[in-house]
This record gives sequence, structure tokens and C-alpha cells, in this order.
Amino acid sequence: MCGIFGYCNFLVERDRRFILNTLLNGLSRLEYRGYDSAGMSVDGDNGIQIYKEVGKVSALRELVESQSIDFDKTFISHSGMAHTRWATHGKPSRINSHPHRSGIDNEFTIIHNGIITNYKEIKTFLLKKDIVFETETDTEVVIKLTKYLYDSQKDISFTDLVKAVVKEVEGGFSFIFKSSRYPDELVATRRGSPLLIGVKTSQKLKVDFVDVEFSEGAERATLNDPTGTGFVDVASGTTGAPHLNRSMSRAFLSEDGSPQPIEYFLASDASAIVEHTKRVLYLEDDDIAHIGAGELHIHRLRRENDNSPISRTIETLEIELAEIMKGSFDHFMQKEIYEQPESVVNTMRGRVNFEDHKITLGGLRGYLSTIRRARRIVFIACGTSYHSCLATRAVFEELTEIPTQIELASDFLDRRSPIFRDDVCVFVSQSGETADTILAMRYCLERGALAVGITNTVGSSISRETHCGVHINAGPEIGVASTKAYTSQYIALVMMALQLSEDKLSTENRRKEIIDGLYLLPGHIKEVLATAGDLQQLSKDTLSKEKSLLIMGRGYQNATCLEGALKIKEISYMHSEGILAGELKHGPLALVDENMPVILIMTQDSLYPKVQSALQQVSARKGQPIIICNTGDDNLINDYRTIKVPKTADCLQGLINVVPLQLLSYYLAVLNGQDVDFPRNLAKSVTVE
Ligand code: UD1
Ligand code: M6R
Repeated sequence: MCGIFGYCNFLVERDRRFILNTLLNGLSRLEYRGYDSAGMSVDGDNGIQIYKEVGKVSALRELVESQSIDFDKTFISHSGMAHTRWATHGKPSRINSHPHRSGIDNEFTIIHNGIITNYKEIKTFLLKKDIVFETETDTEVVIKLTKYLYDSQKDISFTDLVKAVVKEVEGGFSFIFKSSRYPDELVATRRGSPLLIGVKTSQKLKVDFVDVEFSEGAERATLNDPTGTGFVDVASGTTGAPHLNRSMSRAFLSEDGSPQPIEYFLASDASAIVEHTKRVLYLEDDDIAHIGAGELHIHRLRRENDNSPISRTIETLEIELAEIMKGSFDHFMQKEIYEQPESVVNTMRGRVNFEDHKITLGGLRGYLSTIRRARRIVFIACGTSYHSCLATRAVFEELTEIPTQIELASDFLDRRSPIFRDDVCVFVSQSGETADTILAMRYCLERGALAVGITNTVGSSISRETHCGVHINAGPEIGVASTKAYTSQYIALVMMALQLSEDKLSTENRRKEIIDGLYLLPGHIKEVLATAGDLQQLSKDTLSKEKSLLIMGRGYQNATCLEGALKIKEISYMHSEGILAGELKHGPLALVDENMPVILIMTQDSLYPKVQSALQQVSARKGQPIIICNTGDDNLINDYRTIKVPKTADCLQGLINVVPLQLLSYYLAVLNGQDVDFPRNLAKSVTVE
């Protein structure tokens, strides 16, 4: 939920201005993950200097620029870290912003993404030791605990210190630690929250992996528990150097074995790293990465029962800087809406053969027969990703004839819904890091189900922990409101249904109709985008003055209504509700009168006559609906205010109908003066439960 970024230079001379700018720019790239406050920890002239400010990264930048410090001072080696926050524990304020510190001398500092679930217990323990707290956050207990453990045994290495700390901490997190006790070093670790490290050198790396080092040293730290609280008093427990298996850092040494000039970039998201280097490695849960003296070491607690790989591959990022820049658009959301004619093609690229009507999802190869044999398929997701499952459930059931269930991840977990070995569970997530969806995935994996991921983020937890899956390849989505990911998820799910049913002769014609529809889709989306001016006018003249907006439809369009309403409330803060038109007379019709704005989705599919009766019900109550209808539906066009969209196969129509709603929500937010890409109280990646 928060963004974390670290930068280390070793034997690469950088002035303070460069270091501060690098950290601030890294935060700007991550700002969509959290933006209520920001902060950083760097070397000052006397120990560590922390800067923090409430608001967006630009406010922190102003604060830093206003300092009377020597911006030209150079550092041959330096480590710094920065954080942009989405508040969970404690309101947004300077004091609650990260980095947090061990005390007023800033001896130990920490930045944190995630939630510490046992922070109260740790705090109670530390309060008994007369340790004073200054913030309302869960994070502060971790850095106070770090100092407490350090004071218990001063000759401990930075890595072992962090090992001892994380052994006491429960919850989901990624941390970076910086300390004046360990100058120019950083230690980073993660559990359930993403963290990757970019490496930049002028010379080619000797090998493209980093071996994992195991140590029994920190293991002993838990053996001694004189307090009975479960916390370690290391002073009497761990003495002597830990037994490290130091096999590595081969990758970072020069030919003669000496350290080479090198820079490291740590971040919760590749988008902050790609402008510096494309060479990255992803940390696994419980990895403890130590950067110091130009070397990167990855440690783990113990070898026994540890099934993680014994090395971490240095991979090459495939995203380009241009993909995460706004270009000529005013907002990322707008850019991403306009990218859809292209992003939907990228989702289908190399996977759909439009001539022989064949689908090949490389990621599902090898699992198709298992999926076909499943006793049911359970789709699990949150928010917009859930809507993409809802939108495609009917065609999935129709083509595959496998019973299909869809679940909101949080509710699925609350119910502890039964899952069996012959279930196939599909986890749909743009980020691949949504906590509820990840927990649901782990729950299903434990019960032996086949786990399939549909995600936009290569290297994300869902991409890595599922048995197989499909990357939707929509390109990075930065706007908090999900737009192009929705259309790409929708297509990925339709492609999956098409591929699963390719052995069924009875579906041949239907499959052809759908694949032909997919072929025309980019052009159809372009046609809708070309009407953006009309939609802007409609928002301005009518909708922006309203307090509420109902969006109605049925069948395939139920999901479109829910998704449109979510977009509107999420970024314009206007109340909006998606209503299944079949349910109208069972309650919501009571809301309808001449003052209640209604959008009715009435594109031509088999349910058109039934939606006509909803139109009559609304009109009879003096409602004046705006109708989304197909171009050429003259009856409607002549008699009502309409938003016209091209016609396609019924099961794909939602891909086109959602676009005017995305645009309307965008214009409403702009007209209402809202910060489109940074809606209040939200963040892009919801990595907390
Ligand atoms: C893959 C390559 C793509 C290349 C293509 C050529 C990757 C990421 N993709 O694409 O660059 O052009 O082959 O044949 O290297 N997976 C999961 N869970 C998920 C998502 C994916 O386990 O949530 C797995 C898949 O099962 C597969 C792998 O990740 O083993 C890559 O998936 P995907 O990118 O969808 O595969 P391809 O389209 O074949
Ligand atoms: O990354 P995910 O797809 O797992 O995210 C799920 C939801 O948090 C997300 O779709 C959210 O609803 C969007 N902000 C809606 O625009």
C-alpha cells in the first residue's frame, strides 16, 4: 500500500543533490501506491538526517529544497531510502510518516510497507523496558525493537540484527533499514509484500544470479527468552560470529575479484527502477538482503525445511520508461483509457490466430486437461478484477460447461469456503499483490486446488505462487482507477474459455463469432474514444451537478454497471450504484423519480426486450434515463438522450460499453476538481487485509 525506495552508490561519486533527487524521483514513480505523506532518510553532516512531509511527494521536495544544506557535497559511497505512505495505523501527519527512528539521534531508521499484526504485544514489551514512543504507527515498534536488540549485543552484524528483529515480527511487510552504526549499508527484507533490487554497473555482471546464504547464527537468538514474552534478550543468547556460508557476490566483483563501482536501487515496484537499470532481482519472502561495500548478499534464516530456490536470478525488466510516463495526457487514468485500443491487442498478441480461429495461451499449456476435468472453477478477486470475472462468467459457463463460481476474495476468506483438490481456482489481480487475493490463493493452495493466476505484473506474488496462469500484458497501470487492466483481464478470461472449449465441436460457430469480435475490438474501442467530446459535454451539462447516479442493465451488462459505478464513486466521490435491471422492481425502483439521474445500458442482446421493460418502469416514474445503446438503434436514438456504441458479440459488448463509463467518471472527477490519479483514501495496490 505504501511505496518504498532505496538507493546505494558505491565507488560512484554522487553529490547530495543527485542523491536527494534520485530518492524523490523514485518516490514520484511510486506515488500511486500511497500519497498522504512522504519521507526519506539520508546522511546528514552529523549522522542520519530524516525529512518528512504531509501530502504528496512534491511537498517533500519543497521541504528538502528549502533546507540550508550543502547540496554540492559529494559522497563516494552512500545509502539512502525514501517512503510514500498510505496511512493504516495513525493519521497522515509528519510524525507518523516514514522513516521511523530508534530515537532522536536517528541511530536506526526504517521504512515499511504492510502491517505488523503483533505490534501491540511488541510495544507492551518495549514499554516495560521504558522505551518511549513518538508515533501512533505499527512500524515504530520495529525500529525501537531493533535498537533494543542492538543494545543487547553491540557487535552484531546489520544482517543478523535484522534477522533477530524479523523473527519477532508478524504480519505482512517489506522493510528497509538504515543505521548510522552501519554507514553506507542498507538491509531489506520482505514477507508478503513485494520488493525488488535493481543493479547498475558499467561492466557486465559476471554471473546473472545471486546465491542465497544460510546462517545458523541468528537461529540462536530465540533460544534465550528470559522475559517469557517471546522476545529475545540477545545479550545472553547470541555471542560470537554467525556461521555464514559465504559463497557469493560473485556477480558483483570485477575480474580481479575486487569490488567494482556499482549502484543499487530497491523498490516495491519495478516502475521506480526501470529508468535506472533493467537488471533486477526479486526478493522472496523472508529473504534478508544486505547491501554494503558494493556487494549484495541474500541471507535466509535456515536451510532446513526451506523450499525456496538457492539463488535469485538477476532478470531483465521488459517495461519501458515511456510506459510509466504520462506523455501528453493530463492524467495517467486518461492515458490508460486511451491506451486500450493498443493494450487489448497486446493481451491477444501471439495468442489469438484470427485466421484459423485458434487460441494459444502458452501459460496454460500443460494444464488444460486438468482444468477441463475440474469439478468447478472458482474465480477469486477484488474490486475491478472481480468485475472482470463477473463479466465473463456467462461465456465461461456457456463454452466450457464447467460449473463456475465467482468470489470476492475478502468474503471468500471470511466464509472459509470449502475448496477441494479437484477444484480449479483462478486468481485475477492487476497488481498480483492484493493481500486478500493472495491470502485466498494460499488458502486454496493449502487445500490442494490447482491455482491459476491472471495478472498484469510479471514477478508478482500471484504470478509466482500460482501453478500456471496468463499475464494480461496490458502494460503498467498507474492510475488508481483500473481501466485498461479491466478490458485486458476480460479478454484474458474470454481467451481462457475459448481455449478450454476448443475440443468441443458444438461451440465452433460461437467461438468463431467471438474471435471475429475480438479482431474488431480495437477499432470499436477507438470509435467510442472518438466520442469523448460528447461525453465530456454530457458530464458538464448534466451529471456533474448531480449527487447520485444509478447505472442499470442486466445479463452481460450487470458487470458493466457495477464497474461503471465503482469508477464514478472511486474518483469523483459521487454516489453511484450499479443495479441489475431485473432487480429494479424488487426495491431500487423506489429511488426513481424525475430528479434521479439514471444511465440504462440497452445494447442489443437477447435480454434487450427485458431491459425495454426496465426502461418503461423508469419512464413511468418520470425518470429520464440516458441510454447506452448500439449505433443504429434509431427508436432509442430518436426518443432519448443516448450514448452510442458499436455492436459486437453479446459476450464482448461489455468491453465496449465500459469505455464511455470510464470516460464519464474521468470527466466527472476533473469537473469536480478531484485528483484523478490519487483519489482520497485509496491506493493502487491494496497489500493490506
Ligand atoms: C511467454 C513469455 C513471453 C514470450 C512468450 C513466447 C514471460 C513472462 N512471458 O508468454 O515474454 O513472448 O512466452 O512464447 O516470460 N504464470 C503463472 N501465474 C500467473 C501468470 C503466469 O504461473 O499468474 C506462468 C504461466 O503459466 C507461464 C509463465 O508464467 O508458465 C508465463 O506466462 P505468460 O506470460 O502468460 O506466458 P506466454 O503468453 O506464453
Ligand atoms: O491489483 P488488483 O487487481 O488485485 O486490485 C483489486 C482492486 O483493489 C482494484 O481493482 C480496485 O478495485 C481498483 N482501484 C478499482 O478501480
